[in-house]
Amino acid sequence: MTYKELQKYALTSLASCGSDCPENEVRELFRHFFSADRFFMAENGDKAVSDKDEKAFISSLEKRESGCPLQYVIGHWSFMDAELEVGEGVLIPRDDTEVCVRECMSMVKTEAPLIADLCSGSGAIAIALAKVYHNARIIAVELSEKAFYYLERNIRSNNMQGIVEPVRGDISSIFNEYQDGYFDVIISNPPYIRTSELSGLQREVHFEPQMALDGGKDGLDFYRIISENWLPKLKKGGIISLEIGEGQGEAVKAMLGENGARNVRIVHDIGGLERTVTATI
Ligand SMILES: C[S@@+](CC[C@H](N)C(=O)[O-])C[C@H]1O[C@@H](n2cnc3c(N)ncnc32)[C@H](O)[C@@H]1O
Repeated sequence: MTYKELQKYALTSLASCGSDCPENEVRELFRHFFSADRFFMAENGDKAVSDKDEKAFISSLEKRESGCPLQYVIGHWSFMDAELEVGEGVLIPRDDTEVCVRECMSMVKTEAPLIADLCSGSGAIAIALAKVYHNARIIAVELSEKAFYYLERNIRSNNMQGIVEPVRGDISSIFNEYQDGYFDVIISNPPYIRTSELSGLQREVHFEPQMALDGGKDGLDFYRIISENWLPKLKKGGIISLEIGEGQGEAVKAMLGENGARNVRIVHDIGGLERTVTATI
């Protein structure tokens, strides 16, 4: 097969298996397998793909057709300025999370903040912040063994060992290891889907770890833990920025308020959906 034929074959396969945007996915696959830039097809389209490359490409395509997310198939994804390794067992970072990070950055006043990134997953938030705050110290807390593997690798591959410290632990107990008034910033994109809604999520999401998504009966378990146990860990004047799901804003705002937070704000994304709650203490 030539590269052009392989491209056509991939487009047809992905379109027929229900991909929302086969063109983008094929572009990503070509970039991953053949380092293809936008001139690649003009220069190489009629050349034959080697048997070895064709086999590897088709096998990945089949994995994708079975519903496996593209990001797991190619093994990496970017979030803000961070390039991250991802695979089964770790949540794929979403662009939506940028709202939480940008809101946080707009509130940080110090150049060397001490930050806790709770439920860090691949390290997307911690590493994105480390790219901006070179003098920060960022504690990235993650419980899952598989996710922690990616967190450690991503810290290393982004050369952030001096800034981001991975901590394997449960946010519902590890707060005891930090004294009150310790952090300048707490940021988190915790699991926040209601348990009863998990089975109805789109096919690709079922490949992602349930532990990264399940926020308990009302989806709010982690906001309770954070409001009650982590807010006291903020210094006076400290900042908290939490990603939330649509419809969770008022409940999270109330929890933070009941636990002493001030200036609590619900921030919407460009689509008008509730996406983040921020506050100070
Ligand atoms: C929604 S994901 C967010 C990952 C990452 N922060 C991001 O934005 O891409 C939530 C993460 O919380 C982790 N997690 C779940 N329960 C936890 C707990 N009790 N303590 C620490 N981390 C936990 C999951 O393993 C998962 O990596």
